[in-house]
Amino acid sequence: MNNFTYSVPTIIHFGTDQLGHLSELKNSGTKVLLVYGGGSIKRSGLYDRVMKILTDNELTVYELSGVEPNPRIESVRKGAELCKTYDIDMVLAVGGGSAIDCGKVVAAAACYDGDPWDLVLDGDKISKALPVYSVLTLSATGSEMDAFAVISDLSKNEKWGTGSDLVKPVMSVLDPTLTYTVSPKQTAAGTADMMSHTFENYFTNVHGAVLQGYLCESVLKTCIKYGPVALNEPDNYEARANLMWAGSLAINGLLSNGAEVGWCVHPMEHELSAFYDITHGEGLAILTPAWMRFVIKKDSSKILKIAEYGRNVWGITFADDHAAANAAIDKTAEFFFETMKMPSNLRTVGITEKIHFEEMAVKAAGGSAGSFVPLTKDDIISIYESAF
Ligand code: NZQ
Ligand code: ZN
Repeated sequence: MNNFTYSVPTIIHFGTDQLGHLSELKNSGTKVLLVYGGGSIKRSGLYDRVMKILTDNELTVYELSGVEPNPRIESVRKGAELCKTYDIDMVLAVGGGSAIDCGKVVAAAACYDGDPWDLVLDGDKISKALPVYSVLTLSATGSEMDAFAVISDLSKNEKWGTGSDLVKPVMSVLDPTLTYTVSPKQTAAGTADMMSHTFENYFTNVHGAVLQGYLCESVLKTCIKYGPVALNEPDNYEARANLMWAGSLAINGLLSNGAEVGWCVHPMEHELSAFYDITHGEGLAILTPAWMRFVIKKDSSKILKIAEYGRNVWGITFADDHAAANAAIDKTAEFFFETMKMPSNLRTVGITEKIHFEEMAVKAAGGSAGSFVPLTKDDIISIYESAF
């Protein structure tokens, strides 16, 4: 196990009836920038509930609405401008990962003199940020409890993750009932996203991080158990609650500290989103089995770990490692594409051409150094081809 320093300063208020904790925003000042997406929080009535608590607590609210799924740099610029113009004290993001990610970079850009895109390209340039708070409405990214944010500039076909401890939320409200209205598509995509975060941490070359491996397996089993329940019974509290907490734990450092690897499926997916604006979790579900098949073909020493995943997570009993690894990959594909009813190839999500594969692969290869099996540009093209 590697050495590590672990700090999660975010206070989590988990469960029903936790929204009242928004009164804690008073600790950070009086002016709040409320950041949210395209309207789901208005349709569900959450917007009115949040506004009432904020105004009852004498907080003045400014709004950045319409944050896009795969949030754009233009929204960040708009939010930063509002913060500077009105001397805003803090950011409250209400929504899924997109609203929270946008809110985080707005909070940093509010304290930065240059263009916010600089902070997306280089998280080390974040030297100060307004306090960030969040109310999570979609279990997926873990943004509610992590240091990361992913922002796109679609005019350049670029989507990059940035990060800084300074943008970790001060406090996040995690009320599973707020996710009852999430669509089947986004429920499945969210489940795939948190599973992918877990895979990225689980498939490590670091030896002896045994506890982290067991924790990963538990998170995966939780997703496999409750993803389908949430899909079929959207207001099943137990399912929504377990998925919500799994999403936070998958990426808050608990699974990765001491077992660091370079992520590689995420960089490949971010290129798909950057060029085709697809749903992050769908891209991950399509790429994951293709990546696993590629891994065991390229480096047969990795068969053992994938077989172990199959045995410990899926209960596969084949004694032969090769057979167990292949069965594990089949189970993973079946889970995403049949049980969770997700699109199974790139064409189904509207990627009907291969002309950008090379450019996307060059960029994604830069992000996969040090991963479980480091991928070259050609490796990535062949994974895109097999997912096509
Ligand atoms: O925009 P609104 O109207 O709110 O609708 C959203 C959006 O259309 C809707 N939604 C959210 N909560 C809902 C709901 N609809 C009904 N009821 C609710 N309770 O769902 C749609 C998708 O929302 P979005 O926030 O885009 O989804 P998600 O949470 O999956 O976030 C995806 C973004 O996060 C990035 C992704 O790349 C992508 O840009 N990621 C962020 C990470 C991080 N911060 O650590 C890590 C991830 O790997 C990921 O890259
Ligand atoms: Zn992700």
